[in-house]
Amino acid sequence: MAQHIRSVILIGAGGNVGTAILSALEDDPLLTVTVLSRENSQSAFASHIKVIDIHPDYPLQELVQAFKGQDAVISAITSSGTGVQKLMITAAVEAGVKRFIPAEFGGSPTHPRARDLLPMFGAQEDIIDLLRSQQSTGMSWSALAPGPFFDWGLRNGLLAFDLAVQKAVIYDSGASCWSATTLSTTGRAVVGILKNPEKTANRHVVIQSFSTTQMDVVSELERYTGKKWDLQQVRSEDVIKQAQEQISKGDYSAVVKLIQATIYGSEDRGSDFATHLNLDNDMLGLPKESLGEVVSSVLTS
Ligand SMILES: NC(=O)c1ccc[n+]([C@@H]2O[C@H](COP(=O)([O-])OP(=O)(O)OC[C@H]3O[C@@H](n4cnc5c(N)ncnc54)[C@H](OP(=O)(O)O)[C@@H]3O)[C@@H](O)[C@H]2O)c1
Repeated sequence: MAQHIRSVILIGAGGNVGTAILSALEDDPLLTVTVLSRENSQSAFASHIKVIDIHPDYPLQELVQAFKGQDAVISAITSSGTGVQKLMITAAVEAGVKRFIPAEFGGSPTHPRARDLLPMFGAQEDIIDLLRSQQSTGMSWSALAPGPFFDWGLRNGLLAFDLAVQKAVIYDSGASCWSATTLSTTGRAVVGILKNPEKTANRHVVIQSFSTTQMDVVSELERYTGKKWDLQQVRSEDVIKQAQEQISKGDYSAVVKLIQATIYGSEDRGSDFATHLNLDNDMLGLPKESLGEVVSSVLTS
């Protein structure tokens, strides 16, 4: 029987990806959107948006009440809140929710060499395992894999390109391909999942705005800034070793470098989605985007 998803509740709507998801949900006149936000949240929402406040510990019965009457729960909770989603899943099943979209929004969901390198994402895998175990209750799930948020990561330096001083750290040759997605396309993909519930049920949904290389990004940055960029070349295996040492001593700031090495390094860790996964862009009706246009828009906005 065809499922129709009309009412959705979004958790983390004021966050990095939550803001983009909220904007895309609001653009769809057929969806009724509610936001679930902690009582002590700093996020502010436009007055027309229905917001339910919840205790910061997300108590089970408050979650059940909030989820009653909702067809879908979308979690865009911060990474450190991954475990809290266990309560959300229990509450969603109890409330009769049809579709749960957990806070994944990451890289290759299946590549063992990426998983081995980034054990800190194991908590997200536990959430997927829990969702799988709940499929028999009638609640389905979809997890979105967009790769790194390209525009967001280019602006804030997390992609290893420093816009302020025109410097970049290049891993190995900088010629490996990797998939990346803009925040706005990520938001649209979430709406696409809700519009295609059968085709997206109980699986990872894989998208990209484009596949590119670090050197292609440098070339576009040089074109649009009109400056020669200063490139610092590193060996991904050295960075991985150093980052793992730092992490073993409790310095989790090194996780960013580990993620960069996973994505950019010359060893194939599944970062170029189309080489080992089926892309869902067309099914979701996502727009075509080009690297140059996105780089230009980041530099001018
Ligand atoms: N692919 C990528 O490049 C990429 C980049 C960043 C994140 N992600 C993924 O996207 C998902 C969401 O991450 P995000 O960066 O968008 O999250 P975020 O901005 O850090 O936080 C999202 C929301 O989480 C809620 N929250 C609940 N407990 C919190 C706590 N203790 N501290 C702070 N916020 C808390 C807040 O909503 P209220 O204040 O309304 O309660 C907050 O606005 C994660 O799964 C993350 O791994 C992917």
